[in-house]
Amino acid sequence: MVGGGAREHTLVWKLAQSPRVKEIYAAPGNAGTAQLARNLEINPTDIEALAEFAQENKIDLTVVGPEAPLAAGLADRFLSLNLPVFGATRAAAEIESSKVFAKELMQKYNIPCARSASFADYHQAKEYVRRQKPPIVIKADGLAAGKGVVITESVPQALEALASFMEAKTLGAAGDRVVIEECLSGREMSAFAFTDARTVVPMVPACDYKRIYDNDRGPNTGGMGSFSPPQFFDAALDKVVQERIMAPAVNAMRQEGRPYKGILYGGLMITNSGPKVLEFNARFGDPETQVVLPRLKTDLVDIMQAVVNDNLDQISIEWSEAACVGVVMASAGYPGSYQTGFPITGLDEPDRDIMVFHAGTKTGPAKGQVLTNGGRVLTVVATGKDINEAREKVYHNISRIHFEGSYYRRDIAKIDSEKR
Ligand code: AMP
Ligand code: GLY
Repeated sequence: MVGGGAREHTLVWKLAQSPRVKEIYAAPGNAGTAQLARNLEINPTDIEALAEFAQENKIDLTVVGPEAPLAAGLADRFLSLNLPVFGATRAAAEIESSKVFAKELMQKYNIPCARSASFADYHQAKEYVRRQKPPIVIKADGLAAGKGVVITESVPQALEALASFMEAKTLGAAGDRVVIEECLSGREMSAFAFTDARTVVPMVPACDYKRIYDNDRGPNTGGMGSFSPPQFFDAALDKVVQERIMAPAVNAMRQEGRPYKGILYGGLMITNSGPKVLEFNARFGDPETQVVLPRLKTDLVDIMQAVVNDNLDQISIEWSEAACVGVVMASAGYPGSYQTGFPITGLDEPDRDIMVFHAGTKTGPAKGQVLTNGGRVLTVVATGKDINEAREKVYHNISRIHFEGSYYRRDIAKIDSEKR
């Protein structure tokens, strides 16, 4: 398992349930994965060190969590060494790592998305912006850890965002090119599919919460909570998402000579005129994975090997009807600066059916001790017969876990929240 967040802990937790798994290694993992796997001090983008470890230890399957190693070519290197790997190649991962490429693909293959234009030239971009009606969305082309999208309310604001990406280079080369697009409104959701480049099997969808404070106020974060399924997601919407977006995207990538294998993640806006793509990602979502995988009934190793071996059409993938809610506990100050190293207590206190997935945690010097080690620290997850039951279980249990300055949103999956 490559990565060390709560998404990766959830993946390790699910993989460990497979009777086919003997041993798991996590690079670098966290205090949560340490309970189920052996953590390795290898950086997720140190592709050569990972490949060497996989070769020496005859690793049967390497699963990649985050986007950076995919964009850096981890899958390509592993494939060249005949090492089985679950994750998109560099050329396939461009669907996430280049927003200009993703938009060209969507336009060429008629995949519904916001109207847009792409620019490498700063002056042309400025000219175009001056002719647009606000709100105007400015997106940096490259990977920017959530800092690459600005929704602006006026032309001067849009010009300011352009200047920061293209002139001041605040995001480095990620801002060399930009996408300028219309602002969509509606309900946002995340759709996921497994694919072996031909067969596309949808997962259950989820919604996440990006802002730090209740009622979606304050700065953006890596994600403060999630739930699955969205209540507005019905069979008709499911059909449109699969037939107009997910399957066409995989077919388009194959036709472009970039066969796409692994997870396709569609960040969607459900508008009055149907679902439209905000972005594609080449990996599982975080914190969506924490509420999607607990609903998966099929052995994840079987699915991943079917993807690797190009026979995803041979297996059936089943999901539970249960609803699932996850709430992120973060360090005081996050997403700004924060301190780490505080002991976490009460990790054994939640009811037996509650899942506590670790993100920024590490093992402390005392026996069984766990310390905070990042901005997002834990995702506390419960399933229930419906979202309300799952939500009540999470909030009932989360208050039993403590660390200095811990913060979490109180409104995740709340009944009157716009998202549900
Ligand atoms: P991204 O990094 O592409 O996921 O964008 C971050 C967030 O910006 C998304 O989750 C949306 O909430 C928002 N967003 C991106 N593109 C648009 C758009 N065209 N219209 C409205 N909101 C958008
Ligand atoms: N939940 C947003 C992401 O994983 O990109």
